[in-house]
Amino acid sequence: MQERILLIGSGGREHAMARALQRSASCTALFIAPGNPGMAQHGTLVALEIDNGDAVAAWCSEHAITLVVIGPEQPLAAGLSDVLRSHGLAVFGPSQAAARIESSKAFAKELMVRYGVPTAAYRRFTGAQRDEAIDHVRSHALPVVIKADGLAAGKGVVVATEREEAISAVEDMFDGSFGASGAEIVVEAFLSGEEASLFAVSDGTNYIVLASAQDHKRIGDNDTGKNTGGMGAYAPAPIVTDDVLARAQRDVITPMIDAMRAEGHPFVGCLYAGLMIDADGSINVVEFNCRFGDPETQPVLSVCDGDVAALFASAARGALDPATLRSISKNVACTVVLASEGYPDGYEKGVPIHGIEQAEALGNIIVYHAGTAIKDGEFVTNGGRVLGVTAIASTLGEARARAYEAVACIQYRTKIFRTDIALKGIRRVEQTV
Ligand code: AMP
Ligand code: GLY
Repeated sequence: MQERILLIGSGGREHAMARALQRSASCTALFIAPGNPGMAQHGTLVALEIDNGDAVAAWCSEHAITLVVIGPEQPLAAGLSDVLRSHGLAVFGPSQAAARIESSKAFAKELMVRYGVPTAAYRRFTGAQRDEAIDHVRSHALPVVIKADGLAAGKGVVVATEREEAISAVEDMFDGSFGASGAEIVVEAFLSGEEASLFAVSDGTNYIVLASAQDHKRIGDNDTGKNTGGMGAYAPAPIVTDDVLARAQRDVITPMIDAMRAEGHPFVGCLYAGLMIDADGSINVVEFNCRFGDPETQPVLSVCDGDVAALFASAARGALDPATLRSISKNVACTVVLASEGYPDGYEKGVPIHGIEQAEALGNIIVYHAGTAIKDGEFVTNGGRVLGVTAIASTLGEARARAYEAVACIQYRTKIFRTDIALKGIRRVEQTV
């Protein structure tokens, strides 16, 4: 079927989705709301009131839209897909009830325990149980992990190595330092190992997993400093061996897709499993998200070979068609995020950016836009994460080297980035040959 698609979102993840959708044979028209200046090369940017589902549905009807793809978690958690579906639209993105897998950590943990999905031992506490929560972290083994229950843009998690830090984290969350998302908290055991992200595209019953990826969440080299939305990623991730992938599907993805259906809210969209893989290869779930990861989607979709529009459409219509992906690509991609000095705290906006064209002229380089705007005809910074500089190559070492060559072509006064993206993956490849 020929698809006329509305994609919702404006970050680097959505830029990668827009590029993949536009390259799909089945996509005849692509609209993006609100999008960003980098995405304008792939589709028509439209200003829509995303929090008014009825208005979005009316616009879709006027423009003969056949498929809506929702990128970020906020509209999913707010129930946009339910409203659009009630108007008869095909939507790639879970219902509000299914999005609780991300919007409530307590919901996700309970479901995992009930269905035997491996995850860290935990307890949940409401504000009324503040004293109990503090007593609990006083006696808990260190490090201990304290999480705000609701959506907090990846920042509502404290991994405390000291007792006092753990107690303050509990107090701060209950005192509202993460807004309403901290009204309830989860305290859980620390998992050691290396993280990886898996994306399962599902129609609610069946699923397929795209290339595995590894994110780099801390702001500083060697995983130091504050947590961010993600400073770089690569795919596939060597830590996810065929054996790890098979066990992750058997022990994590399949039971979770089955559980969501059994509970009456089938998961239609991209189920993101954040895994911790320890030295002996055992797998635990760190978190689930109800959408693609950012920045992991940038490398994952860059190496995805097939008709992504048809894949998403088949999932949205309840009949997942794995044949839409031609084959698992042999390529590897590495994305280095260029951010604004000060991120993940405050940063300046409106700083002119130069060299994007030169970077792309190197070949097999894609510069995904995350936080940019156009001012007086030139690109300027407009966010904490500005660009996702992505190189595609046949080995991880080459992809990494080329991504950094491209990074060197791009200049703006407040440019910061990590210099160690993909090094863990490269060391792992070297160890196994
Ligand atoms: P989350 O928002 O749940 O993904 O947590 C953000 C980050 O905190 C994760 O990507 C991990 O790096 C870290 N983290 C969360 N939970 C744990 C845990 N139980 N053990 C160790 N690290 C964790
Ligand atoms: N890269 C982490 C996330 O998308 O949640």
